[in-house]
Amino acid sequence: MTLPAFHAPTPTDMRRSMGRFTTGVAVVSADDGDGNPSAMTISSLTSISLDPAILLVSLTHGSRTTEAVEAAGSFAVSVLGSRQEALARRFATRGGARFDDLPCDRSRSGLPLIKDALAQLECRVHSAHDIGDHRVFYGEVTDMRCREGTGLVFYSGRFGDFHDFGHDEVPWLF
Ligand SMILES: Cc1cc2nc3c(=O)[nH]c(=O)nc-3n(C[C@H](O)[C@H](O)[C@H](O)COP(=O)(O)O)c2cc1C
Repeated sequence: MTLPAFHAPTPTDMRRSMGRFTTGVAVVSADDGDGNPSAMTISSLTSISLDPAILLVSLTHGSRTTEAVEAAGSFAVSVLGSRQEALARRFATRGGARFDDLPCDRSRSGLPLIKDALAQLECRVHSAHDIGDHRVFYGEVTDMRCREGTGLVFYSGRFGDFHDFGHDEVPWLF
């Protein structure tokens, strides 16, 4: 099969190409200052530093959650498990009342967290930068917990789960 010619990326090309990069799925949440929780599904979660513990999330301009994180100076991250696709869709759907009828956990400082998530992390905004059409937040992790389970995976616009090859664990991770 012949490969297509190289060309400058359109936003659709960019989404399609980066969609070939398999990611996990998380929900970023914050309080908007009036006690209302705000949250959105993301795949841009990246570990930046282990000591100090710093992670990165890239949030689109114009989202309520982006504004809430900016205003609050803090946010929470819930890493979704493979049985939480419906939540990933719910928190990626524009306009919906995302927390209606949804029992949540709370971090020790009161931020909303997704129940049964594989990892729940609370962050203080370390720094933030506008890059293109997103605002990138570096979060210093101040509190966290995690549990065993299988992660929800996103690839090429579809959700799935992770199956390992059954080989040895990579030693430097553990
Ligand atoms: C799997 C998945 C991953 C996503 N990752 C991101 C992301 O990293 N950053 C982002 O800004 N939007 C991301 N989105 C899109 C937002 O979840 C979606 O636009 C959401 O409606 C934005 O919240 P808002 O309606 O409050 O603006 C993702 C959506 C899905 C389904």
